[in-house]
Amino acid sequence: MNLTLKIWRQKSSNDKGQMVEYKVSEISEHMSFLEMMDVLNEQLIAAGEEPVAFDHDCREGICGMCSMYINGEAHGPDRGVTTCQLHMRMFNDGDTITIEPFRAKAFPVIKDLVVDRSSFDRIQHAGGYISVNTSGNTQDANALPIAKEAADKAMDAATCIGCGACVATCKNASAMLFVGAKVSQYALLPQGQVEAADRVMAMVKQMDLEGFGNCTNTGACEIECPKGISLENIARMNREYLKASLKG
Ligand code: SF4
Ligand code: FES
Repeated sequence: MNLTLKIWRQKSSNDKGQMVEYKVSEISEHMSFLEMMDVLNEQLIAAGEEPVAFDHDCREGICGMCSMYINGEAHGPDRGVTTCQLHMRMFNDGDTITIEPFRAKAFPVIKDLVVDRSSFDRIQHAGGYISVNTSGNTQDANALPIAKEAADKAMDAATCIGCGACVATCKNASAMLFVGAKVSQYALLPQGQVEAADRVMAMVKQMDLEGFGNCTNTGACEIECPKGISLENIARMNREYLKASLKG
């Protein structure tokens, strides 16, 4: 495949940035999108130019690092996959592909396609954990019976990889799907219920402080989420928040 790439280039967070056009040729349909980006970067390095900066780590859909907005969609045109799992067979010879960073006030661009998503880390630090006494008296996890439905729903929520596609996709740059998943994975389990009220209040407070927008029930986040996190998690977080507020 021969392709034209229109890529957002931005030297630093202070730089204005602009779209720059590149050509790549002999791209195999079996390559992943990131492998295609590697081909471009090798080409740029050989020509003495600065390679395109982009985030990646596992390259197998686990770490959530590969945040790219491809042809107007977070993680590109396929469903249920991250950019590293997106294959070039989704494109055609002669295509022009537009590649931008995830855009949101709370995800400032660091360089080219790399954004700072430490706002998600700070939300997690605010309450995305359970406190366990590990002094030698820790209860065996299997000693607590958990209903199958609750265990399954908690596991589904826990598959969120913190990629930020939900924020990048939302017209309000809302992080409600991410925070809803992180609140739900504990709210559904007895181990998480001890600190449930403090957790939801602290995480929502931090989410607002970071400058994420509100949810207006459009549902685009659920469609673009590579892990199929359901909107149900936002509803559960809202219920948890209401319960915690009434409790004072
Ligand atoms: S909810 Fe989905 S889109 Fe949002 S951070 Fe988690 S995995 Fe990514
Ligand atoms: S590089 Fe880890 S999810 Fe894509």
